[in-house]
Amino acid sequence: MNAVSPPSRYAAGYDQAVRGDAITAERYISKEWMELERKNLWPRVWHLGGVLAELEEEGDFIRHNFGKESIVMVRQADGAIKAFFNACPHRGNRLVLGDVGSAPRLTCSYHGWQFSTDGTLVHVQDPDDFPGGNPCGKVHLSELRCETFGPFVFWSMDPDAKPLLDWLAPFPERLVGYGLDNWVRVLNVSADCDFNWKIIRDNFNESYHLPTIHPELSTFINDGLPDTLFEMYDSGHNAMWMKGHQATTRADHVSGEVPAPLDEIAAAWGIDPAAYRGRTHVIREAVIAAKRKLGAERGYKNYEQMTDQQLVDYFHCTLFPNLTLTMSPEQCQILRTEPHPTDPEKCVFQHWVLVPPVAGMAEVMTPVGMVPLAHAEHSHSRYGDGVSLGYVADQDLSIGTSQQQGLNSRGFKGCILSNQEKRVQRFHELLDDMVHARI
Ligand code: FES
Ligand SMILES: [Fe+2]
Repeated sequence: MNAVSPPSRYAAGYDQAVRGDAITAERYISKEWMELERKNLWPRVWHLGGVLAELEEEGDFIRHNFGKESIVMVRQADGAIKAFFNACPHRGNRLVLGDVGSAPRLTCSYHGWQFSTDGTLVHVQDPDDFPGGNPCGKVHLSELRCETFGPFVFWSMDPDAKPLLDWLAPFPERLVGYGLDNWVRVLNVSADCDFNWKIIRDNFNESYHLPTIHPELSTFINDGLPDTLFEMYDSGHNAMWMKGHQATTRADHVSGEVPAPLDEIAAAWGIDPAAYRGRTHVIREAVIAAKRKLGAERGYKNYEQMTDQQLVDYFHCTLFPNLTLTMSPEQCQILRTEPHPTDPEKCVFQHWVLVPPVAGMAEVMTPVGMVPLAHAEHSHSRYGDGVSLGYVADQDLSIGTSQQQGLNSRGFKGCILSNQEKRVQRFHELLDDMVHARI
């Protein structure tokens, strides 16, 4: 029997070798694996901690709870941002208990120790009662690396981590055209979920599930394999360019009427969908032309610096190990899962949406419907309690619990992956090497 190899799905120069290691259930369900990740993975990567819009003034702070850790990022007098472990050096109490705040000093609620914004202890009760003398000025909060990119602030526990912009490469360069710096986070939702964080990570590393889990995307996003551009980078980050404003080539959407909602999207740009009957695949080019012509007067100042591809397509960036950015000219979606503090079969899912500020626009469409075009407060729920986390995200999450259950079966022998799921394979091999301290 002749085995036929499918073609590489990766852009020239952006394929990566994989070994074909077995991906068994252990990494999704065992406490030992979770502990290895806690020791060898999470301390070595950069984490997206929040948005700069919440750190405008000196003393503004944000908190990011991550697994068993909690990190506080604080705006300094000189405009820099510092990150600290959220643990009082006195006897370990958590200092900051809310998501955001602003204060000239961080004050521990146990014995009242106070720290200046740069993390220096500046006030204690009974300062003369310490064997080494007054500890003020000598004791500091434990500091971490903290750097920014666009509207975002990141932290890392690794003093030797690459500078953030190098670690994010090639995305800072690839994302320049979108002009993300002044985008506004209009949605900030999260939920406790009953599955391992990697379940959703795997989901974002493949588009094989689009026709089955998100069938309604097929009329305006072309997920046909020959039409999609996949890239894998040395760093472990991946990307996928999917053509937007074009129906999938998995089915014949070309010869008939322009399908909904592409007809409405085209009409909104002054294009008559009836004129594209029988050639719906070229409406994408008409939208590019219309956006070039009308974008600036509609307030989309960022269109000018975008490539044609950026104007109409979806740039899906999966960063190792757990951060995803899905870009369109009008929306940046941040989707990620983070580990539960103790249970490998649970995680926290987060969904942020950022949009460009458009003068005069009061509301904006997001995956949860229309919301004010203004900075959003964080809201947290439990998945399954009826709160939407975005209609596409809800579909992805709907599989999480049942996949976790299936992975617990003695009958599951390990994943059988298609060629287009090679990013999943590579992710797990890199993860395996990191958690076992081989790299
Ligand atoms: S633990 Fe913070 S002041 Fe005592
Ligand atoms: Fe999905």
